[in-house]
Amino acid sequence: MRGLKGKRILITGGASGIGAATAVRFLEEGSVVCLLDRDPEARRKIVHELPGLSGALDADVSNLTQVQAAFAEAVRLMGGVDVLVNNAGISIRHKFLDITPEEWDKVIAVNLTGVFYVAQTAARHMMERGGGVILQTASTNGVMGYPFYADYNATKAGVIELTKSMALELAPKVRVCAVAPGYVLTPMQRAEYTDEMLEEVNRKIPLRRHALPEEIAALFAFLASDDAQNITGHVYTCDGGETAGGLASR
Ligand SMILES: NC(=O)c1ccc[n+]([C@@H]2O[C@H](COP(=O)([O-])OP(=O)(O)OC[C@H]3O[C@@H](n4cnc5c(N)ncnc54)[C@H](O)[C@@H]3O)[C@@H](O)[C@H]2O)c1
Repeated sequence: MRGLKGKRILITGGASGIGAATAVRFLEEGSVVCLLDRDPEARRKIVHELPGLSGALDADVSNLTQVQAAFAEAVRLMGGVDVLVNNAGISIRHKFLDITPEEWDKVIAVNLTGVFYVAQTAARHMMERGGGVILQTASTNGVMGYPFYADYNATKAGVIELTKSMALELAPKVRVCAVAPGYVLTPMQRAEYTDEMLEEVNRKIPLRRHALPEEIAALFAFLASDDAQNITGHVYTCDGGETAGGLASR
């Protein structure tokens, strides 16, 4: 990928799943990588596995004070942030009629308010410095309806609209895009799906499988690279064709 060598990358939710695979990919590209995650055990593990990381910062993205402190620390460690991968997120599998106000608030706080806090903090830094790239993890759940994830789906639709609006306001200095993965085999997915459920999902996907976290990481690497310099304000889907055809693909 062109132009990633020496680029300074901050990845939220970078200690697991898609975020961790993205850290690996950017390190392979010769980038300087710092991650931010609220899980101390996962941070300890990834620092051990990826000694090339510049830092693994402790912050909860839904806490603005923690976000600002961690971002300042990332700037101190790397000398600046050129690319933000705004990726931390949570999901709870529950029926719409069962969602409690507390669960609703928790999902909104991490997946939408948290994405906003980190995006705005990074955007201020990048606008001041004259450039940068912000990439946010949405989901195919933000494009179509899916049962049992109404709160999550609403946050991901919000991330898509936030992405498009930010892209318009931050152009031409800062590019902003979203990635919309379909089903990806990560700890998040493993936590909520049995082997039988995973197989049933795979049967319905045209390419017959979940995406690998590395395949989502590849999309982030492309969008952050100089090969994507004319791309902003759009959402890129990686879902094995799941959302291509509606009934025709079932
Ligand atoms: N796995 C999928 O099928 C799938 C599909 C579409 C979109 N996504 C999205 O991809 C992103 C990454 O998901 P994943 O599957 O890699 O999950 P994961 O659970 O493997 O990783 C998420 C990471 O985010 C961190 N995190 C969670 N809440 C946080 C907070 N408040 N502050 C800081 N860190 C926090 C967790 O500690 C974890 O390390 C999420 O936004 C998720 O919604 C996942």
